[in-house]
Amino acid sequence: MDELDKEAVVAALNRILESELAGVVRYTHYSFLVFGFGRIPIVSWLREQADESLMHARAVGEWITTLGAYPSLTIGPLLDAHKHDIGAILRESLEAERAALQLYRDLLSRVADRSVALEEFARRMIEVEELHQAEVDKMLRKPGDVAAFASSPTPPPASSAPPLA
Ligand SMILES: [Fe+2]
Repeated sequence: MDELDKEAVVAALNRILESELAGVVRYTHYSFLVFGFGRIPIVSWLREQADESLMHARAVGEWITTLGAYPSLTIGPLLDAHKHDIGAILRESLEAERAALQLYRDLLSRVADRSVALEEFARRMIEVEELHQAEVDKMLRKPGDVAAFASSPTPPPASSAPPLA
């Protein structure tokens, strides 16, 4: 097994930590801005996502201190387009989730064949984040559409977002 480049791994973990903490803030913020008939299930779904991001942040932070390093106290970039229809919120979420998934893939490339435990962690998180991303994509499809929203040839403009709320 090759040697772990601890500095690079900690940097990758800190980027993930910052992104998960941004997720906590972002989903909590969105949850305040849902109005209409669909409010109750959508608010609770958004808050579940905030809780899940916090759990991920904690797990990542623990890995950083396990490696004897200092966890970042910064939070990642927060998008706020000030468009608060549910479609816009979900599209922003999909973008942020895609970026987070890339960070976990970057972690995996740095730990694969170097640390069994960290490799397992990165793979498990990639599975969780991919399933999460798929869920958001399905929420963005119109009823009856089977094709993935993300792969639609011309992504619908903001105004034609599915009327979820
Ligand atoms: Fe996450």
